[in-house]
Amino acid sequence: MIIAIDGPAGAGKSTVAKIIAQRMGFIYIDTGAMYRALTLKALEQGIDVNQAERVVELAVGTRIELYNDASGNLTVLLDGKDVSAQIRQPRITRFVSDVAKIPGVREVMLGLQRALAKTGNVVLDGRDIGTVVFPGADKKFYIDAAFKERVRRRYNELKEAGEAVTLGNIEADLANRDTIDSTRECAPLKKADDAIYIDTTEMNIEEVAAKIKTWINL
Ligand code: CDP
Repeated sequence: MIIAIDGPAGAGKSTVAKIIAQRMGFIYIDTGAMYRALTLKALEQGIDVNQAERVVELAVGTRIELYNDASGNLTVLLDGKDVSAQIRQPRITRFVSDVAKIPGVREVMLGLQRALAKTGNVVLDGRDIGTVVFPGADKKFYIDAAFKERVRRRYNELKEAGEAVTLGNIEADLANRDTIDSTRECAPLKKADDAIYIDTTEMNIEEVAAKIKTWINL
């Protein structure tokens, strides 16, 4: 079974995808983590993310692996090295949407995501899972929340992770990524026609997970 969860940053996709995967014994595939890992590699090698050809070349020669442990935590390996924490840093977040808008990069990731999903029952979260990667997914969800609430959630997450962020930084980052992700030509963020829309602004994570689980079991 394939479950697709799409939506903008800070709507709660990854938290809820992890919960669903853990409760149902599914594999969780965080597709954003793949774009983040590639962004990290580009920055480490001093590659300008606007040089599309170089970034695509880099993507082709990169090994990205995702592992779930029993408690639902995700480990991301970039060419064999654990980069799970590093890829969440604001310096990566700042450039990830520029990397993700490159069609050649998306082609590489699409191949990887489809191959990973062959391993069994999976929950994938991202921007284009229900529209492009798995248009035939068994269940599709589009998780959203009001902009202010998404900013607040991401701010709290990063504070907890010990990052020096301000509400202003987060607001600017989310607005910028929302725009790039939803206006790019290749696989933009949008709700699939047959996805179930959930506005989580007034919901806690348990409520969202319960709602999704009900739909899955229908
Ligand atoms: O966790 P957060 O919502 O901040 O973002 P993410 O899921 O880690 O994704 C980071 C970025 O990767 C997004 O802003 C998109 O630019 C890109 N992305 C994408 O283009 N397609 C996907 N399926 C997943 C992520």
